[in-house]
Amino acid sequence: MQLPDENIEYQYQRLLYPAAEAWTPLAELQSANFLSPDRLEQTRTLLNAVRGQVAAERELLNPPAKLQPLQSGFIDLPQKMLDQFRRKGDASELGKLLRIATRLKDNTDRCVVLGIGGSYLGAKALFDSLCHTYHNEMPSKMRMGKPRIYFEGNNLDNDALQDLLELLENTCVEPEVAEERWGIIVISKSGGTLETAAAYRALRAEMAKFYGPKSEWLKQLIVPVTGPKGKLRDLAKAEGIADEDILTIPDDIGGRYSVFTPVGLLPAAVMGLDVRAILLGAAAMTKRFLEEPFDRNPVLQFAAVNHLMNEEVGKKTRVMAIWSKKLESVGFWYDQLLSESLGKQNRGATPISSVYTRDLHSRGQQHQDGTRDKVINNLVIRSPKHPPIMVGMSDRNEDDLNQFSRRSVPEVLDAAFKGTNQAYFDAARPTADIVLPNISEHTIGQLLQMLMLATVIEGRLSNINPYGQPGVEAYKQAMMKILKATPNLPKGEVRDAAKGQ
Ligand code: PA5
Repeated sequence: MQLPDENIEYQYQRLLYPAAEAWTPLAELQSANFLSPDRLEQTRTLLNAVRGQVAAERELLNPPAKLQPLQSGFIDLPQKMLDQFRRKGDASELGKLLRIATRLKDNTDRCVVLGIGGSYLGAKALFDSLCHTYHNEMPSKMRMGKPRIYFEGNNLDNDALQDLLELLENTCVEPEVAEERWGIIVISKSGGTLETAAAYRALRAEMAKFYGPKSEWLKQLIVPVTGPKGKLRDLAKAEGIADEDILTIPDDIGGRYSVFTPVGLLPAAVMGLDVRAILLGAAAMTKRFLEEPFDRNPVLQFAAVNHLMNEEVGKKTRVMAIWSKKLESVGFWYDQLLSESLGKQNRGATPISSVYTRDLHSRGQQHQDGTRDKVINNLVIRSPKHPPIMVGMSDRNEDDLNQFSRRSVPEVLDAAFKGTNQAYFDAARPTADIVLPNISEHTIGQLLQMLMLATVIEGRLSNINPYGQPGVEAYKQAMMKILKATPNLPKGEVRDAAKGQ
C-alpha cells in the first residue's frame, strides 16, 4: 500500500534557551527554565548508545536479571504482523483477527469492549481519534453497519455498569433481529483482573438471558483476548469457545505496549478502521527510530528533551496539551504509559493531559502563571479532515464577529496556538510540539509507536526499567485481602450477575 508522505515531527527549538545578546530578566528566567542546547548536544552520544542497547534487547532470549522484566516484543510487532499477513493471509494472526472482527461486525449492532489499563486505553484512543465523534449516535447506515462501541470493565462503578445493562436490555429485545444483537470483546492479558472479570460475569449473564443459555451466539459473539495461559482462557474454553476464536496477546508484550496486538487491533477492526494502515504507521516509526540520525528521529528527540527537562531542568510535571478533542484519549493512554513505565523508585515525571483550547479556560491559568514545574508538549494537527468551517458574515453583528467573517475555525485555532505559545515563551514556560500532518490510521499508528519507543528510551536513560508495574500489585493484594476477610452480602435488593447463565 502506498501512503502519502505524512511523517510526524517533534519540534523542540522553542524550549532551547536562545543565546542572549545582553542580560535581561527574561533571558535569565529562560536560562533557568529552558534547556541548554549544549546539554542536548552532549546527550547525543549517550542516546545513540541507548538506542543500540534497546535494539539489541530485542534479540535477547535469556535477558540478565537486571533487565527483567523485558518485554520489547512491541518494537518489531507491527512489521512482523504485516509480513506474516502478506505470507500467510487468512492463516496469519492478522488474518484470524480480521475474520473474527468481520463476524462481530456482520452480526451485531453493539459491541462491549471489556478491559482496563493497557487492555483498554489503546482501543479507546483509536476509537475516539479515528471514528466519527458521534459514532454511537448515528443510524446503522451512516455507520456503514459498524457496531456501536461501549467500554466497560475499566472500573468498579456499579451504576455505570447498571446503566449499560439497562441500555442493552431496552434496546436489544429480539435476538433474531440483526440490529438488536450485541457482542463482547473481553480483554485481559493476565486473565485475572477483577474489574474486567466482574464486568464480564455480569455481561455474559445478560447475554445468556438475551440469546438463551445454550445459544451458539454465546460462542460466536464473545471474543476473549488474553495471554497464552490464565483464568480467562480457561473460562472461555469451559464456556465452549473454540481455541481458534480466542486471540492471544504475546508473552513478550506488556499491557500498555499492547495496542498493536489484538488488544487494540480487534476493537479497531470491529470499528471498521484500517488496521493495516495503523500497523504501517507504527512500523514506519520503528524504522525511523532504528535508522535515522537524531535530527530526523522524533523518538530520540522526544525522549532526550523530556528526559533532560525532567531530570536536569526540574520540570517534573509533563503536560500533553492536545489541540484536538479527538485526541483526548490518546492523552489518557500516554498518561498511563508514562506513569506505569517510569513512575518507579520514587522518580518519574507526572503526566497531565489537557485539551486546548478547552482547558485554556481552566488549567491555562496555572500553565501560564502557576508553579514552574511543567514542560508542555503540544500535540498539534496540521490539517483538519473536513473543509474549514468559516466564521461567516451575519446580519446581526452584536457579537462583533463580522470582522473575522473570512476566517475559518482552523485559522482561529492556529491563532490561539501561536498566541498561547508566544505567551508561554514570554513567561519562560517551556513548550515543544509533536506535529501530526492529519489524523489518520497511519499517523495515529506512528504517534503511539513513537511514544512507546520514547518511553523505553527514557527509561533506559534514567536507569528505570520501563517494563513491569510492581507498584500496581500493592492495591490488588490489599483489595483481595479485604474482600476475602469480609464475606458479608449487602443488605437489600441485589442484582445477581450469575443468574441467567
Ligand atoms: O500496562 C499494564 O500492564 C497494565 O496496565 C495492565 O494492562 C492492566 O493492569 C490490565 O491487566 P490485564 O490485561 O492483565 O487485565
